[in-house]
Amino acid sequence: MLYSEKVMDHFQHPRNLGKMEDADGIGEVGNAKCGDIMKMYIKVENDIITDVSFNTFGCGSAIASSSMATEMIKGKPVEEALELTNKAVAEALDGLPAHKMHCSVLAEEAVRAAVQDYYDKKGMANEP
Ligand code: FES
Repeated sequence: MLYSEKVMDHFQHPRNLGKMEDADGIGEVGNAKCGDIMKMYIKVENDIITDVSFNTFGCGSAIASSSMATEMIKGKPVEEALELTNKAVAEALDGLPAHKMHCSVLAEEAVRAAVQDYYDKKGMANEP
């Protein structure tokens, strides 16, 4: 079997799928080679990620990776979300085929971009 049961499960039943209207941070990343795009939304209260959702226009591994990533950062402090690696996401999925590892990189980058957007917006809001 090329894909683990967990990959298939998260691909077929993605967690936290969909757009978030009142997101505090939005990160959008893409892979130029395969053309896949991932969008990550986070809601933050007192520097804790209280809610997270995603939209992925991409392959099954990318959908599974983003789904898993949302579960891994939900309820965590934003600084901790920044430490999420694509390796950790792939491991949580019980592995990805070597040529599909780049799909988990998108998840890491999307989380990071969403947190960065949150910081940027917060910085602006704090300006007098
Ligand atoms: Fe590019 Fe999966 S094939 S993200």
